[in-house]
Amino acid sequence: MTDKLQRLELTWPGKEDRFNPEPRILLEDKEKSYSAPDSLMQGIVESMGLEQKVQPTFDNMLIHGDNLLALKALEQDYAGKVKCIYIDPPYNTGNAFEHYDDGLEHSIWLSLMRDRLEILKRLLSNDGGSIWISIDADESHYLKVLCDEIFGRQCFVDEVIWQRAYAPINLKKTLSRSHDTILIYCKNPVGFELNKIPRREKQREMYKNPDNDPRGDWKSDNLSVGPAVEKNIYEIETPSGRKCLPPKGYSWRVSQEKLKEMIAENRIWFGADGNNVPSIKRFLSEVKDGVTCMTLWTYQEVGHNQDAKKEIKALFPDEKNPFDTPKPERLIERVLTLASTPGDLVLDSFLGSGTTAAVAHKMGRRWIGVEMEDTAYNYCLPRLKKVINGEDAGGVTKSTGWLCGGGFKFYELASSLIVKDKYGQQIISDKYNADMLAEAMCKILGYHYKPDSTAYWKQGYSSEKSFIYTTTFSMQEASLERLHEEVGDNNLLVCCSAFSGNSKAYPNISVKKIPAAILKKCEWGREGYPLNLTNYHPDDKEFEFDEENDE
Ligand SMILES: C[S@@+](CC[C@H](N)C(=O)[O-])C[C@H]1O[C@@H](n2cnc3c(N)ncnc32)[C@H](O)[C@@H]1O
Repeated sequence: MTDKLQRLELTWPGKEDRFNPEPRILLEDKEKSYSAPDSLMQGIVESMGLEQKVQPTFDNMLIHGDNLLALKALEQDYAGKVKCIYIDPPYNTGNAFEHYDDGLEHSIWLSLMRDRLEILKRLLSNDGGSIWISIDADESHYLKVLCDEIFGRQCFVDEVIWQRAYAPINLKKTLSRSHDTILIYCKNPVGFELNKIPRREKQREMYKNPDNDPRGDWKSDNLSVGPAVEKNIYEIETPSGRKCLPPKGYSWRVSQEKLKEMIAENRIWFGADGNNVPSIKRFLSEVKDGVTCMTLWTYQEVGHNQDAKKEIKALFPDEKNPFDTPKPERLIERVLTLASTPGDLVLDSFLGSGTTAAVAHKMGRRWIGVEMEDTAYNYCLPRLKKVINGEDAGGVTKSTGWLCGGGFKFYELASSLIVKDKYGQQIISDKYNADMLAEAMCKILGYHYKPDSTAYWKQGYSSEKSFIYTTTFSMQEASLERLHEEVGDNNLLVCCSAFSGNSKAYPNISVKKIPAAILKKCEWGREGYPLNLTNYHPDDKEFEFDEENDE
């Protein structure tokens, strides 16, 4: 008998093994956070007599650290809030890896991508949220099937072919790959739409105003149309007295009555001397602004890899070989134009040199960027400061009308909450002070951290009447009794290092001992889940979760 649960799916060795990353807290590094000083904006506007077209955003986040841990850290506060995710992960091109032949790296790559994509999906907004993933032919087909499984096939929007190179690499013995794929999925297909792209200059240039019409530029469009509609075949007399009929097999586009109306409204054009075959005036102000984007994106429209390298070089002129694999700003501008509007939240968890954040900033979007390597310090940080200071004249600065302004906060992932002491016992890390511990406990137990200024025990909440309180002290009977009275008809979860008395005596209070109560919640002490697979093997000790000291 056929297994009822059978379905079309991609399997790979280790698919069933799941990582369980620790929901870390994020620590702001105030020295690296940056906001434009008020005087900057004022100065630029005054000295150049310009007005900023884009509203700069301030509540942006640049996070240094492994993105699986960072996404897990963001999940609670940002689930359902991100309008557009663009990611450009390592493409897993086989030649970089020693073990590629046995497909091992391929499987690990899929597992690592799966775990990230699952969280990314939860971060996307149900209302128009979409994810855009750059990839090439080494993995694109596997990734498509994986994404179908994660997002649902009905959420597949399309794939874009981006012409990343304009000239062949003649050393190649077969084909010289010149395109990347961008896979697009939405979170919720009901009513999902993308924005249009602005009419191109060339298309705009076709609109002129030879008769100084107060409605502005227009272009003429055929008044005749086929196949012929009998009642719309009639003679039209031009102002010069010439008699016109539609061509054979055609009729006029409108009835005789409608034509009279249009002539009265000056919507029919007979040429400068009134002797031409009549045509319709189509006003630029009346055509739908923007065109539907097609799936083939040429380098002339959105740039190619060399353009991207030039952009980075212009930003870091003193470096011989700045960041290796940037994307051109115009490519990201196209994605954000289609998938977001000013003020929307954009996320890139493989930020690289910071292109997505820079473009999002210039387009007035709010943004979150995550980058694991020192690239975050060496490229993202200075690049975004330049954007904010109005010192980046390249990329899409001109097309977006960007001047300067806005800001961001820089975050590091906190270290693991649980460490081992010298006897191998799992204990709370001494790097955590009381506030950090309270915040971490909220994250781990699914509460929103929001300390109340009046009631010390309200450190976080999960619903209107449900709160959490964490303390490193031991709770005595008397303190529980006091809390019981203060908490009243609310519910309180108390996390403490020890307690005495009967914890079940108070119906509005539950007591948990830390760290015992949380040891099995996730993997502790992992500093990352890297996609850089060269030295990465599932048999590595690092993979194993040490359960020895579980409660
Ligand atoms: C192809 S690059 C992205 C380039 C980017 N689109 C740009 O325009 O600069 C991929 C980036 O992902 C980063 N990365 C890879 N694995 C990561 C991880 N686990 N967490 C965070 N960043 C990661 C790499 O360090 C690299 O900078």
